[in-house]
Amino acid sequence: MHEAIADAYGNPSSPHWAGRSALLMVSKARHQVADLLGCKPNEIVFTSGGSESNNLALKGLFYSQRRAQAHIITTAVEHPAIVEPCRFLERLGARITWLPVDATGRVNPDDLRQAITNDTILISIMHANNEVGTIQPIEECATIAREHNIALHTDAAQSAGKIPTRVDDLGVDLLSIAGHKLYAPKGIGALYIRDGIELEPLIHGAGHENGRRAGTESALLSSALGEASLLASDLSAVRDIEALRERFWLMLQNALGDQVVLNGHPEKRLPNTLNVSFPGQVGAGILEKMPEVAASTGSACHAGRVELSPVLAAMGISAEVGAGAIRFSLGRTTTAAEIDTVTERLIDLLAHA
Ligand SMILES: Cc1ncc(COP(=O)(O)O)c(C=O)c1O
Repeated sequence: MHEAIADAYGNPSSPHWAGRSALLMVSKARHQVADLLGCKPNEIVFTSGGSESNNLALKGLFYSQRRAQAHIITTAVEHPAIVEPCRFLERLGARITWLPVDATGRVNPDDLRQAITNDTILISIMHANNEVGTIQPIEECATIAREHNIALHTDAAQSAGKIPTRVDDLGVDLLSIAGHKLYAPKGIGALYIRDGIELEPLIHGAGHENGRRAGTESALLSSALGEASLLASDLSAVRDIEALRERFWLMLQNALGDQVVLNGHPEKRLPNTLNVSFPGQVGAGILEKMPEVAASTGSACHAGRVELSPVLAAMGISAEVGAGAIRFSLGRTTTAAEIDTVTERLIDLLAHA
């Protein structure tokens, strides 16, 4: 980013020397993101983040098809950046099917097969869930989508940089990433659009991004996402994160027994996510007592009533268990000492609860 500020402050669309260095940086970044996803650079559109990428995929496809009876299939555990565009498209006349999930948060590909109709224009299934980390059977869903010639989008905001996200291995036609989930800054993301897929832009204007998203490109932000994508391609660091996460879970289980429950799939889960419930407790109450820990809960308390997150509710988790849910996310800088401290604090808190 320092390099971009110093040498690439021109407009990437300008043909003169100042523009050329900026264009070179944007183009290098596009190649780096494409390398992470295993696609061609021209199939990458830079966006402002995961929300915009998801909006462009869903609305862009809907607008470009102009079908009176458009039907979209998604899941009951998507991020609001999918849920809300779907609700918006519902108001424009689309019919949405929300696939259910099992107790681990996974969809059943057979349910997808059964939900497909002649009007289905798009299937959008997240790669990995942001609350519990459960990884969806995208490859199987892609086979079904292909059989019916329906475009498949996946929201990979949580998975990119943590598990492989090569588009041909997954079999997807559209894939969203959010820069700040892989150590790039907030405000930059990308959408992979398979060659041949037509999307109406959300932002019309000059012909930036091959006519798919108007607005002068930011060499500063895109080069940061490019560099982050390069670093994220090496998943060896993730194995250490997973080992730490497992150590965390084992220590909690050994100390607390059935006072702690895992939320999410035991194996098909992001390597950095540990969402656990302390049944009978309130997650926010526990976190309040350990303010040095940056973690989040899976429920909210409104007027003394616990409201489960839609994800935990879709997984059929009871209010008593869901109210005590906390999501811990480990990162590349998390240390064993930090995990030990948090574990000790939790054990101590629960002993006195
Ligand atoms: C799964 C998922 N999709 C989309 C988003 C939205 O990304 P952004 O905040 O970059 O718009 C997030 C962010 O939390 C996410 O976790």
